[in-house]
Amino acid sequence: MTSQEMQQAPVSGSDLATVLETRRSTMPDMLVAPGPSEAELDRLLTIALRVPDHGRLAPWRIILIEGESKARWIEQLLTLAETREDAAKSRISTRKLASAPLIAAVISSPTPGHKVPEWEQELSAGALTMNLLNGAAVLGYGANWLTGWHAYDPRATELLNLAPGEKVAGVVLIGTIAERATERDRTTQDRVVSRLEI
Ligand SMILES: Cc1cc2nc3c(=O)[nH]c(=O)nc-3n(C[C@H](O)[C@H](O)[C@H](O)COP(=O)(O)O)c2cc1C
Repeated sequence: MTSQEMQQAPVSGSDLATVLETRRSTMPDMLVAPGPSEAELDRLLTIALRVPDHGRLAPWRIILIEGESKARWIEQLLTLAETREDAAKSRISTRKLASAPLIAAVISSPTPGHKVPEWEQELSAGALTMNLLNGAAVLGYGANWLTGWHAYDPRATELLNLAPGEKVAGVVLIGTIAERATERDRTTQDRVVSRLEI
């Protein structure tokens, strides 16, 4: 087995816990081709959509961006980047979208005025996005959850044809891991976990 095959070997059973315990986002430039096959993508999307969803509203959708459409999207973003006040920074962050073979834009698409508060509907979109990261890791791929100006500048979100009220929850880069990122500082359980004592 080559190192790439080993990296992409799917995991199962107790290995799954190890994958989730050690999952680390991959730097955008270190996500390279090949991306998931059609069969793997189908599994990844199945994992992503298996998400708690109060009221069964499906208040999200996923836009897959790859191949020539991805190249054209980046081209259009680069044109927009030049018109922004922070052009240099915007250009750099846009170029970071180029390496990963697959991008999944997760769109929060809440139903306004529903008895399920919009906050809960948006949380479900966040959970779906996290499922994508964990699903990619379990299938042996790397991923990175970004937003950046592409997610907030209305001229950029227009390129994704967002409907009124929709928001970009994440621009998730997915691909083969060329190089694993070193571990980052993480908070500790004792800082953020407490027990209710009443
Ligand atoms: C909602 C959201 C948006 C993010 N947007 C960006 C971003 O635009 N640029 C960036 O460098 N990191 C962004 N990050 C952080 C990356 O996902 C980062 O690589 C990650 O937090 C690393 O931690 P991990 O290894 O535990 O996944 C974002 C994270 C979240 C949750």
